Amino acid sequence: LPHENFLHCLSLRSNGSSSISNLIFTRRNSSYESVLESRLWNLRFNSTDTPKPLVIVTPTQISHIQATIYCSRKHGLQTRIRSGGHDYEGLSFVARVPFVIIDLFNFRSVDIDVENRVAWVQSGAILGEFYYRIAEKSTTLAFPGGVFHSIGVGGYISGGGFGLLFRKHGTAGDNVLDAQLIDVNGRILDRKSMGEDLFWAIRGGGGGSFGIVLAWKLRLVPVPANVTVFTVGRTLEQNATELVHRWQYIAPNLPDDVYASIQFRAMNSTQDGRKTVVADFIAFFLGTTDELLSLMEQRFPELGLTKQDCTEMSWIESILYNNGIRNQPLEILLNRTYRSPVNVPYYKIKSDYVKEPISEIGLNGLLSRLTDEVATSTVILFFAYGGIMDRISEHATPFPHRAGNLYKICYNTGWLAEDNVNSQKYLDWARTTYSYMSPFVSKYPREAYLNYRDLDIGSNNIHYTSYEQAHIWGRKYFKDNFDRLVHAKTKIDPQNFFRHEQSIPPLI
Ligand code: FDA
Repeated sequence: LPHENFLHCLSLRSNGSSSISNLIFTRRNSSYESVLESRLWNLRFNSTDTPKPLVIVTPTQISHIQATIYCSRKHGLQTRIRSGGHDYEGLSFVARVPFVIIDLFNFRSVDIDVENRVAWVQSGAILGEFYYRIAEKSTTLAFPGGVFHSIGVGGYISGGGFGLLFRKHGTAGDNVLDAQLIDVNGRILDRKSMGEDLFWAIRGGGGGSFGIVLAWKLRLVPVPANVTVFTVGRTLEQNATELVHRWQYIAPNLPDDVYASIQFRAMNSTQDGRKTVVADFIAFFLGTTDELLSLMEQRFPELGLTKQDCTEMSWIESILYNNGIRNQPLEILLNRTYRSPVNVPYYKIKSDYVKEPISEIGLNGLLSRLTDEVATSTVILFFAYGGIMDRISEHATPFPHRAGNLYKICYNTGWLAEDNVNSQKYLDWARTTYSYMSPFVSKYPREAYLNYRDLDIGSNNIHYTSYEQAHIWGRKYFKDNFDRLVHAKTKIDPQNFFRHEQSIPPLI
């Protein structure tokens, strides 16, 4: 059995260190399932017919990772790397070939250096604990990361990483200063020894292609002691469509200090109980309520923002606010398994970039789809671009969606456990909605955001994948940067050991 040989190899390679045996889980261990499931966020990939790993290794030392890579190669097992387990297609814990998971959960130290405004963060840390550790030391420093607290630092930064501060400070990948990576030969590389091509590639070129990033040196950015947030809901009956139409012209041109998004969801109309759609206009602002009010009065008076709609809070509190877990102690950010009420357990995501404002008719067509019964647990989000994103070259990191984008759309189709037997109808809804949107969004390529992984846009074969085939999905995520990623991959992992359905292929 390949995994018996693998296990034997592992025990030999770990030099008789007894510790590794407690860090290995196979089906024979009673805790195998709980280890697998504790970082498995999309329950769509936890059914009885989902392929499961032969072995899960939860290393505590670098030598354990090196041994796992060595023995996986020797015995022909694929490796999947897991940090936080939020991959939208489950690629960190599902494979269609015999495989081993390296779960970096124990690599989660966070070192904050306030004076130099940098942090070293290991990949297995979650964003919430990173933010918590920053806030412990300073109320005026932050990291431009995502909102969702349980996302793993490893996968998040590998895929670019956008969040509340991205119009001011760029993506997470734009704020990486150095990294520690283990390559296919078990070498430990830093920025200098890996070279600028590989260092460029790991800051947005996607996890699971180049090696295992153990830790990141990150730039911390200044924030005021208090920021201001608001969420203002308007239904279709309250002219939501007109407001959204206006927002497209206004939001991308707001100052860099504003993060602006809209979240759409269905609700029962209070008037007649029929379904309507509410558009929640959301903002996060690096300044005071008064400044934000006056800005919105000048730029977007139609929204009718009032002082009562705005709340001032610290940056760290705004993370809880945007997670939908207000009035909870900050320690909840350390809880790796806590599912916030906004987290639907089964989901399929898709994304788009919008370069020209969409007509009201076009918007109405999209919003009316949310009133379908099947879309009850679904949300659609618009995230305004512009700000510094317009001023960073699209070749600065692999993340290419910079100048020229008004906003990004995220279609997050969700459903509940009791309806998972009907998952196909939700997937169909997601696909027909995406198809409805094709005239309104970016073309040639139809761009997509890598961290919103979507295998519908193309995928690799189980074994050999040509450049041409991978280019189909690769161009959507990376545009022309795909070629440089292929070049970096060919140099560091020519035999394609680190691979999955959307990993960068080497040139043969
Ligand atoms: P996971 O462990 O599943 O890894 C994802 C991929 O990276 C896999 O291919 C994996 O093999 C690889 N990988 C993981 N660790 C690695 C390492 N150390 N070295 C090399 N490869 C590694 N994104 C965003 O930009 N902004 C946002 O606001 C949000 N919000 C959000 C909310 C929710 C509810 C979800 C489920 C997801 C998001 N995301 C997001 C997307 C998220 O950033 C994306 O899924 C990340 O890949 C998750 O990182 P994890 O480490 O949790 O994933």
